[in-house]
Amino acid sequence: MKILVIGGGGREHALAWKLAQSPKVRKVFVAPGNGGTASGARLENLNITDVQELRAWAASKKIAFTVVGPEAPLAAGVVDEFRKHGLRVFGPTRAAAQLESSKAFSKAFMKRHGIPTAEYETFSDPVAAHAYVDKMGAPIVVKADGLAAGKGVVVALSLAQAHEAVDFMLVDNTLGVTHNEGGARVVIEEFLTGEEASFIVMCDGKNVVTLATSQDHKRLLDGDEGPNTGGMGAYSPAPVVTPDVHARAMREIILPTIRGMEADGIVYTGFLYAGLMIDAQGHPKTLEFNCRMGDPETQPILMRLKTDLVDVMMAATEPGPHGRLDTIELQWDRRIALGVVMAAHGYPLHPRKGDTITGIPKIEDDAVVFHAGTAMQDGQLVTSGGRVMCVTVLADNIKQAQQRAYDVAQGIHFDGMQYRTDIGHLAVKS
Ligand code: AMP
Ligand code: GLY
Repeated sequence: MKILVIGGGGREHALAWKLAQSPKVRKVFVAPGNGGTASGARLENLNITDVQELRAWAASKKIAFTVVGPEAPLAAGVVDEFRKHGLRVFGPTRAAAQLESSKAFSKAFMKRHGIPTAEYETFSDPVAAHAYVDKMGAPIVVKADGLAAGKGVVVALSLAQAHEAVDFMLVDNTLGVTHNEGGARVVIEEFLTGEEASFIVMCDGKNVVTLATSQDHKRLLDGDEGPNTGGMGAYSPAPVVTPDVHARAMREIILPTIRGMEADGIVYTGFLYAGLMIDAQGHPKTLEFNCRMGDPETQPILMRLKTDLVDVMMAATEPGPHGRLDTIELQWDRRIALGVVMAAHGYPLHPRKGDTITGIPKIEDDAVVFHAGTAMQDGQLVTSGGRVMCVTVLADNIKQAQQRAYDVAQGIHFDGMQYRTDIGHLAVKS
């Protein structure tokens, strides 16, 4: 079987690595891929990014199914394009991907369907937005409508910060936000407190299968300080998601979302990721939806998955009104998986490219370095993006996982590398 994975980050390396372990697989193509997927066992990079070209290529190569990693091709309608031509693909349609690509859409959706989330208002007029900030007071959260690669959210602790965020999102639009049809908009919402977790499921149009829980570390620096990033590390499972919180998240958030989308005329297929804020009483609220797996959450989650992912994807994409995920029961390694992201000099604002990388160890059963922003240049592995790689390990407990991951990380070198030294700190306390 030949498979296509769309994307080129750490999440896509992990997806391709896991799919390539199946005895049914001859080759996993990754478009465009990275320095890790260029040389992995049964992996091959494909230098195509245009959606129609990818579809034509997949049809001509008799690709069994395609898995879409990142949000941008989903929001651009890659799933619609593949399906229109009868190709199997796992991901949400463009309409369904609005749950992530538009904060205004997802907030209005949650309000309409009674799904727990922060109170909010949407604005395109800066004067009204500033007045609302003054009325509500700080702390308050300002979010750009559209895709902003994890940088479109300002948690403003002071009124001044909130006003500044409104200006740079609404007046200047310096973020380079995409897919925000109808001009710049912001969502301004209530500040929530609690502990965050990533709750990810797979949906085939009807049946829902939950993945192992995880927790991401969004801030650049130790102790959850510094600017927000795409994610500096993650581990699975997340102890904050107790069986009770898990049941609530399914009952109050995931299932009403999938049923609500269907009621609104949009069948949901693909990964659905609810970013949860869980309060001290164990009540989860939805911070955001993503219509894909998390990066770096995917890396530890897939390290723990024992089931053949090809079987899962074949069931999920079975042609017909919906797939056959009801026949799948996922098996998880009971150990803890933990991933530490090594980022480039200047990340998140101005990551430097072209630094030579050395010291990456060979893949082992309990330690894998998933590549992200890496590329081969004249036979040499170099940095080519903000998040360069994610050192991901399995161990019996969180302390051992930290020790193992940081042992591996210390052997790796590139100039200007940055990584957090406290990934998993909330789980150590619990
Ligand atoms: P989002 O992209 O919407 O998940 O926001 C990015 C990060 O900002 C989240 O992971 C939270 O840490 C923080 N955040 C977002 N919304 C809120 C909120 N309403 N209250 C507190 N923190 C928030
Ligand atoms: N790690 C957060 C995300 O993938 O959105």
